[in-house]
Amino acid sequence: MKVKWGVIGAGGIARRRTIPEVVKYARQSDIVSLMDVDAAAVKETGESAGISHVTTSIDELLKGGCEAVYIASPVSAHFEQGMAALQTGKHVLVEKPMAMTLEEAEKMADFAESKGLRLGIAFMMRYSVYHQAIKELIERGDLGEPVSGRAQLTCWFPPIPGAWRQVKSLGGGGALSDMGCHCIDLLEWFLGETQEVTAFTGTLTHDYEVEDASTVLLRCSSGAQGMVDNFFNVPDQASRNVLEIYGTQGAVLCRRTIGQDGGGEMEVFSQEAGGGYDASQVRAMDEYKKVELDPVSLYAQEVDAMSQWIVEGKKPLISYDVGIRNIKVVEAAYQAAEEKRVISID
Ligand SMILES: NC(=O)c1ccc[n+]([C@@H]2O[C@H](COP(=O)([O-])OP(=O)(O)OC[C@H]3O[C@@H](n4cnc5c(N)ncnc54)[C@H](O)[C@@H]3O)[C@@H](O)[C@H]2O)c1
Repeated sequence: MKVKWGVIGAGGIARRRTIPEVVKYARQSDIVSLMDVDAAAVKETGESAGISHVTTSIDELLKGGCEAVYIASPVSAHFEQGMAALQTGKHVLVEKPMAMTLEEAEKMADFAESKGLRLGIAFMMRYSVYHQAIKELIERGDLGEPVSGRAQLTCWFPPIPGAWRQVKSLGGGGALSDMGCHCIDLLEWFLGETQEVTAFTGTLTHDYEVEDASTVLLRCSSGAQGMVDNFFNVPDQASRNVLEIYGTQGAVLCRRTIGQDGGGEMEVFSQEAGGGYDASQVRAMDEYKKVELDPVSLYAQEVDAMSQWIVEGKKPLISYDVGIRNIKVVEAAYQAAEEKRVISID
């Protein structure tokens, strides 16, 4: 049985990735209606994806035949639209960050729970075949005890008139909340929940009010230490979106697995326990083995995972609790940067 989905926000990521990939690859999800405040955008996206019901009215979308709603509007609209969808009995998958504040995210989750509705957060990178392989390597103990991780996501994002991400009251923040949220989510998934966080943020290059530079340090519940670096001022061609996990018996190095297409490159080094002390510290990079896997659509996977939750009750990796957790860490990182200190998180 396929779940009928409505989409709010038919531009940007929904138009480029989620809608076409769900239409092409999803097995348990059908998109039956689209809504966007921009009449031309909703018409064009609807036509190109073969979705006949398009509207500029959220009420009309919610009164229609969808059972679940995917929200891909600017962050400042997530709470109001998420609550409106839940209030009409729809399940919700909301894009990252889940809401503007922890309070909003918690209110949405409490309301969904009280009505027995499903609420998820679109951390689609958890469905990367490479990231799932890393999770398995760590759980099997192939890297020994994890001690360190780095997750990087950067791009070139110059000032653009009307860009909501560059306005704090519309996006909530800059490089940290927009891109860092994915990186923090991955490191927490691999290394355990953040117990302590500290950060530097700044607007170094561009003339807008949100940060274009952010470096966050985490101490995770496994004891491992993590670094998350996100910049809006590095050329796209220079971005390798590095993901590195090191343990007492090995390491995983990835390039470009952090991103939207589900692909990338991965190398793994793993040795038997007690490799011994070598004073000469011989480092042979060729001991890393390349791992090549077939990418899957991250967006079709995340929507199907929500559909499975709705139909079969199988809780996905992206339920609202990880969205709430993520906002807690991001808010603490901003506070740490502002107050120049380390913040503990429950
Ligand atoms: N997971 C990912 O890979 C990924 C990538 C990019 C963006 N995102 C997230 O998706 C969301 C949207 O980002 P984007 O890059 O697509 O933005 P965008 O600005 O490119 O597109 C947003 C669309 O929403 C429409 N819109 C604006 N206000 C609206 C409202 N009140 N109601 C309905 N529609 C409205 C706009 O007309 C536009 O078509 C954000 O939360 C962002 O963080 C996620």
